Amino acid sequence: MERQTFHSIKRKLLYRPGAETDERGRMATVLNNLVLHLHPLTVPATALRFNYTWGLGGMTTLLAMLLGLTGLLLMFRYDARVEYAYLSIQEMETRMVFGSLIRAVHHWSANLLVISAFLHLLRVYFTGGFKGGRTANWVIGVALLGLVLASNFTGYLLPWDQLAFWAITVSTSLLAYIPLVGEEISRFLLSGPEVAQGALSNFYALHVVTLPILMTALMGYHFWKIRKNGGLSQPTNQEGDKIKRLTTMPHLVSVEFAAATALLTVVLVLAMLKPAPLGAIANPLVSPNPAKAAWYFLGLQELLLHMHPLAAMSLVLSVAGWMVFVPWLDRRENDIGLYFRSSHGKRAAILATVLGVDLIPALVIVDEFWLDLGQLFPSLPAWIVSGLIPFGASLLGLGLVYALMRLLISHGGRRANHSEAMLGLFTFLMVSLVVLTVIGVYFRGENMALVLPFIW
Ligand code: HEM
Repeated sequence: MERQTFHSIKRKLLYRPGAETDERGRMATVLNNLVLHLHPLTVPATALRFNYTWGLGGMTTLLAMLLGLTGLLLMFRYDARVEYAYLSIQEMETRMVFGSLIRAVHHWSANLLVISAFLHLLRVYFTGGFKGGRTANWVIGVALLGLVLASNFTGYLLPWDQLAFWAITVSTSLLAYIPLVGEEISRFLLSGPEVAQGALSNFYALHVVTLPILMTALMGYHFWKIRKNGGLSQPTNQEGDKIKRLTTMPHLVSVEFAAATALLTVVLVLAMLKPAPLGAIANPLVSPNPAKAAWYFLGLQELLLHMHPLAAMSLVLSVAGWMVFVPWLDRRENDIGLYFRSSHGKRAAILATVLGVDLIPALVIVDEFWLDLGQLFPSLPAWIVSGLIPFGASLLGLGLVYALMRLLISHGGRRANHSEAMLGLFTFLMVSLVVLTVIGVYFRGENMALVLPFIW
């Protein structure tokens, strides 16, 4: 039997004898060529385990492609003038062939994209996928997540209904609190003091031109870097065994095909069962109560209820900055490719999850009903009481979480190392973000007061 070398595999896939003359053979060659521009000829068997990547990078890519395709179709009918924007969406819903379905697929893909990009980030972090020369790809990934959020945010305004108008009004007022540049960013985005035609034109241009171009370019670079890095992260082979490799076709392609089919089915079923929302036309004079930001910003909006906007923004930006520097802050290489690094890392992740799920709601309740820093420190100015103190306390709390991980996680006579404690801190931050978002979505009612959901 012929030995499986690089050239023999390539020959088999691309130059099958007689392929030039029969139609199916030609098609297969073209398809194989296309796939092999994206993937290498062979991949390590370990990288093929579905429960390593969970197909999340691929699903994120597919959702981005679906958004591009459905967005292109929606552009045929959308009109970005404030008098017509809402009417054009109504027309899409009622008179465009499959308009309602296309809009719903766009809506669901956009929301799922935020979730899948976030889960992909978690998987990359937990397997140490940013290690082994993958620093640049991690940083590009963080930028991509920012672009995903920006694309969602700019698209949110386009239907020009009450939901869109007030969510963007609330969110852009938050932007103004970004230290130093916030006012400028807000003025640039809105082209004026409030959400009106200038804002709609800017958001539309950003949503359909600038952000898609940036995303496509960064995604291309992200994929190229994965190949440049020699494929996905793998556990280092300490025994010196040869790494088993399998051909991309059919092994990787069939897994990708199955995952893509499953995802498309989920998106289609969701779109058919639950169409994209469209409320009453935007009315700048009537504000809904509560006026909430888009769901993925509700964690931030929740923070604003507990501290001065400048403190909340500084906290969020500090955490975002920390995320960018993750590869420099955790340089241990021998735990790459292993979920949670080690059994210590697993314990750190569990402790951090329990801490986040219990502590964050407790702090929210204490601050809502009992704690009044203004009363405790009546002589201090407001910027210290509601700004500096909560900001400092949050940073101190995060430092304590790290210290707790190093002190409490001990097993087999060894304490958690820096990498494992960082993993605990990362888990705590991510769980806190999710918990704050859940509180913002389900537990905030009229006047943003705490309420119990499902009780009317
Ligand atoms: C639009 C958003 C994104 C797309 C389309 C995307 C796509 C992908 C794909 C297809 C892979 C290979 C398969 C897989 O790992 O599942 C991958 C790997 C990777 N991604 Fe992303 N990604 C995105 C966002 C992110 C984010 C938010 C991060 C982290 C901050 C990130 C960091 C990485 C890294 C470091 C790798 C290599 C992981 C390894 O070698 O194990 N990506 N990405």
